[in-house]
Amino acid sequence: MRVLVTGGSGKLGRATVKHLIEAGHDVINADHVEPEHNLCPFVRVDFEDMRATLEAIAGFDWDHNRKTEAVVHLAAVPMPGKVAPADVFRVNTISTYNVFEACRLLGIRNVVWASSETLLGIPYDIKPEYFPADESFESRPETSYSLSKHLGEEMARQFCRWDKDLKIVCLRFSNVMDESEYASFPDFEKNPGGRRFNLWTYIDARDGAQAIRKSLEWSGTGAEVFIIANEDGVMTTPNTVLVEKFYPGVPFSKRVADNETLLSIEKAKSVLGYKPEHSWRRYAGS
Ligand SMILES: NC(=O)c1ccc[n+]([C@@H]2O[C@H](COP(=O)([O-])OP(=O)(O)OC[C@H]3O[C@@H](n4cnc5c(N)ncnc54)[C@H](O)[C@@H]3O)[C@@H](O)[C@H]2O)c1
Repeated sequence: MRVLVTGGSGKLGRATVKHLIEAGHDVINADHVEPEHNLCPFVRVDFEDMRATLEAIAGFDWDHNRKTEAVVHLAAVPMPGKVAPADVFRVNTISTYNVFEACRLLGIRNVVWASSETLLGIPYDIKPEYFPADESFESRPETSYSLSKHLGEEMARQFCRWDKDLKIVCLRFSNVMDESEYASFPDFEKNPGGRRFNLWTYIDARDGAQAIRKSLEWSGTGAEVFIIANEDGVMTTPNTVLVEKFYPGVPFSKRVADNETLLSIEKAKSVLGYKPEHSWRRYAGS
């Protein structure tokens, strides 16, 4: 499949470009920053600019015969707090509108987009109803960043209502991690409250890339939302101890193993066949 990856120079984008190429897909990275190592053709695009977005997704004048068949949209300001809230909101909502609309206009009906776990209520100042958190939780954006993701999911629903053959898969990623970060994971034990804000979860960038590929290869239509995290959390302290201390009284909706993720990935596993392979425990020796 010929796939254009927006934000392919970023943390999740680099892993995605590599994974898709290794799986035999034909990839273009479109980003406003050139990657350190080019694994595939690169084009500089600002996705806030609709003309540039349309042209980039349509294809290139140096490459007439190869049309884009699918788009993975990862370009964004990836978290709150690093730039002004209004800038996060502007970049993320406008670029997501432009990418979805360009795909619709061009008849590209296979779109995978990075939503975010933040919609589930991060930083969980209000107790979740139960654990593990899942897709039936009401969306609860608390920052301009998560509001931009909330509106992105709503845009996905409306675009798919306009075009019944369009598929937009919205992947609610947990906190994206590279292998190089795992050596410091055991330190989380020193301050168990430090990672409470996202229920002590994470997603290995390579497993995130696998979820993206499986979403591209999935034959569904319409707007569909999936939580994407690893099978385990970042702690070795058991879940029952963490929940008792930080969320007393919140029940478990099913049996959860001591260090199993508190973000349910059951839907992604059963529908997409997602199967994370890169637990941090394999790399940090814990
Ligand atoms: N990092 C996380 O923990 C996390 C968690 C959940 C969801 N996400 C989402 O995953 C996606 C990728 O995140 P990441 O961690 O790889 O972020 P990143 O910052 O490493 O990569 C984002 C890339 O997008 C590019 N970009 C930003 N605005 C652009 C624009 N207007 N035009 C063209 N390129 C633009 C940047 O140059 C960068 O290369 C984002 O949508 C983010 O919101 C990230």
